[in-house]
Amino acid sequence: MSYKTKMTIDDLDMRGKQVLVRVDYNVPIENGVIQDDKRIRATLPTLRKILDSGGLAVLMSHRGRPKGKRDSALSLAPVAKRLSELLGKNVTFVPDCIGEKAEDVRSKGVPGDIILLENLRFHAGEKDNDEDFARQLADGADIYINDAFATSHRKHASMVAVTKFVKQAAAGYLLLREMEMLEGVIAEPNRPFVAIIGGIKLSTKIGVIYNLLDRCDKLLIGGAMACPFFESLGIMPKTPSFEQNDLGTVRQILEKADSSGSNKLIFPIDAVVTDKIAPEGRSVVSSFENIPEGLMIVDIGPDTVALYRKQLESAQTIIMNGPLGAFEVDKFSHGTREIMKVLVERAEAGATVVIGGGDTASAAKRFGVDSRMTHVSTGGGALLEVLEGKSLPAIEALTERM
Ligand code: 3PG
Repeated sequence: MSYKTKMTIDDLDMRGKQVLVRVDYNVPIENGVIQDDKRIRATLPTLRKILDSGGLAVLMSHRGRPKGKRDSALSLAPVAKRLSELLGKNVTFVPDCIGEKAEDVRSKGVPGDIILLENLRFHAGEKDNDEDFARQLADGADIYINDAFATSHRKHASMVAVTKFVKQAAAGYLLLREMEMLEGVIAEPNRPFVAIIGGIKLSTKIGVIYNLLDRCDKLLIGGAMACPFFESLGIMPKTPSFEQNDLGTVRQILEKADSSGSNKLIFPIDAVVTDKIAPEGRSVVSSFENIPEGLMIVDIGPDTVALYRKQLESAQTIIMNGPLGAFEVDKFSHGTREIMKVLVERAEAGATVVIGGGDTASAAKRFGVDSRMTHVSTGGGALLEVLEGKSLPAIEALTERM
């Protein structure tokens, strides 16, 4: 089911209405200071539209995984402060998402006001997709907007059950932009279409690789993720990072890639290895066949950078999910940095370049290239599910456009 048949924010008449908005403000906060406000900024177009249209915006979000119990370390209070700075107007924070206080503040709100409710996951009903909890969230709201792409793979009360208790449930601008970019890339890519899949745990990327093999022209595998493939091919001995259960699936992927007959799957040809993921760790370039005893892979090597650059040179569509090494340590960031430079070159030459996943977005930000990509997804798990070809329950729950 495509998001394209669903009602959007532009279909709504919001004047004088209470608009309940699900956002994803699951942002990193240390000592009360927000470390990355991308997810907050990304909702501003939707919020401005509601306020400019004469609506009252009531925002709800989760943060962290508090397991149905109140946890002050996971409060959304610092987010209300940041949002207020970004919008240049007061944001009323309510210390619970349901109950008398929330009802009272919501009922007194007027068009143009903005209210942020406390962390939804302080109540077990949120994760349980509980209808009674959802009814309380919806109470008083005329319209519901989902602008939480990054949570749309979760069948939770504020994402799914809530849509039963409002007249209209529509997609906000952030959700629309994400789906437009991701579905566009997957369903109708300009060719050549090259995917880069990195990270450490192959098990989290199996479904993505499997689905993308049907759609892309080349799929480049990042650093340590290549190990299970090499082990399966007998090129490398068993490595500590190898996940036991993957062997059968790894073989299936290799067979699928083989049967496509076009050499789609491209593996690194050298690696940077170390004894310690820290600035003082050793940095040695090695082939995969001869990794010195006790050393681990932390980056792709220079020959792989050159090989991958070549593969990307004429790409018209690129998707990258997962870094190519331990980019947090400067001396192991070379591969990810160099490949991201190529992505910027391609984006600036008119190709569509979409990157995403928490670490990939952080790497782009660290290298100062995030704003130069076509799109940086706000999604982690939700992005993986879209790339796996799954439909997202929270999008399915939105109202069909007549
Ligand atoms: C995310 O950060 O991926 C989303 O906010 C979803 O969080 P969750 O994995 O705890 O549901």
